[in-house]
Amino acid sequence: MVASTGSTEREGWSSRSAFILAAIGAAVGLGNVWRFPTLAGENGGGAFVLFYVGCVFLLGLPLVLAEIFIGRTGQDDAVGSIRKVAQRSGASGSWSGFGVIGVLAAFLILSFYSVVAGWVLYYVGVMGGDFLGAVFSGEPFRGALAGESREMIQGRMGNLFADPMLLLTMHLVFMGATLFIVARGIGSGIEAAATILMPMFFVLLVGITVYGAFVGEMGGAIAFLFTPDFGKLTPQAMNEALGQALFSLSLGVAGLITYGSYIKGPAPLGPTAVTIAIADTSVALIAGLMIFPIVLAVGLDPAAGPTLVFQTLPFAFQTMPGGALIGLLFFILILVAAITSSISLLEVPVAWGIGEMGWSRRTSSLVFGGGAFVIGVACLLGYNVWSDVRPLGFWPLFADTDILDTVDGFTGKVMLPLVAFFTAVFVGWKADRRLVEEMTGLSGFWLSVWRALIAWLCPLAVGVILVTGLFPQVL
Ligand code: PFF
Repeated sequence: MVASTGSTEREGWSSRSAFILAAIGAAVGLGNVWRFPTLAGENGGGAFVLFYVGCVFLLGLPLVLAEIFIGRTGQDDAVGSIRKVAQRSGASGSWSGFGVIGVLAAFLILSFYSVVAGWVLYYVGVMGGDFLGAVFSGEPFRGALAGESREMIQGRMGNLFADPMLLLTMHLVFMGATLFIVARGIGSGIEAAATILMPMFFVLLVGITVYGAFVGEMGGAIAFLFTPDFGKLTPQAMNEALGQALFSLSLGVAGLITYGSYIKGPAPLGPTAVTIAIADTSVALIAGLMIFPIVLAVGLDPAAGPTLVFQTLPFAFQTMPGGALIGLLFFILILVAAITSSISLLEVPVAWGIGEMGWSRRTSSLVFGGGAFVIGVACLLGYNVWSDVRPLGFWPLFADTDILDTVDGFTGKVMLPLVAFFTAVFVGWKADRRLVEEMTGLSGFWLSVWRALIAWLCPLAVGVILVTGLFPQVL
């Protein structure tokens, strides 16, 4: 946006609801529709889900508010915003160092996020082709992938992984779309995308869940997701739940600092943060209620792990009425969720390039989108030609971890908790109290509750995730 004086004014959201929609778009992603159901399935359902929800509201929500507070106050990229809050609080500017880690984490997460989203894109292609075939053969409401054996359907993923060119093409298309949107800027890029894609996402989510309730086993899914068996809540599962809460709310990568910095004018940040946390958690739970009735109806294993969505579900859609259409819509839904998140991941380093390096938005988008693409290529080669490569092989924790899982594990276990820890300590202990009150709009009881959580519980609990994540033998 260019001001009439000719000087460039920093971009901003057109309204409070535009910010909320974009922030929900960032939060709702592969983490909700792929990772959460996978983790709930692997960790026995109910008790895990309950613990997860606790983590979201006691740790995640205070951190969401803390990040938005920093961004809204600083009105700059993540690093610049932290620096400004530090200056206005009489604290050292070197606190902005944790912003640098956050920016780097967003960049690294983007690289493998785009590869996984590329798999989703491939399945959109497969299911799209199948649905067209169904339409042309006059049976638009038949099940998916008619005539294919279970082995053929499940083998598709292995074939995809063995084909570097196919993986690369999908990754390229997805990253290209992300770059295109981010390069257009906040208003006509990110906000416009969220305004179109998020309503579409919600319609698909509700539609497929209602479908699942009719044709699948909703009762079984509810029992699975909500009956707590605390015996299954191992320290490992708790650690996963804490980490997932951070990832799902897009915390620890300065994403909400960056998005918050485009808020113009006064806004009560408390209700905004609560809306984001409730929306993100509801989507994760509804995604569970969308997926498990279908999986259970055909007697498949809800604890299948990361292949649940890619191998188990396509097979389930085969036996379902209208499965060809619903299968296609299901993968479109995941793709939509992924792109509104990937744009927020790219926006973090792009804003940094603009704010700290003085680059144009276009240059910054090309540098970071291109850089993340290259690291993503290394990740996808780790499934085939570089399958023996162990980037952090010297480190027992990552001794047998391929390239993609290493980037995922290192960011998730080390970088996100580290940034979240410093965010909590910084806002809880260093930020000026009056500034916090003025900028968040919080006062009285809720201010005290939030302060207690951000100053005490968050650093403690996130510190525990960090230590137990790095040294699993202590669990
Ligand atoms: N919250 C996203 C998800 O659940 O898929 C992942 C993510 C997006 C993390 C954006 C961080 C971020 F800045």
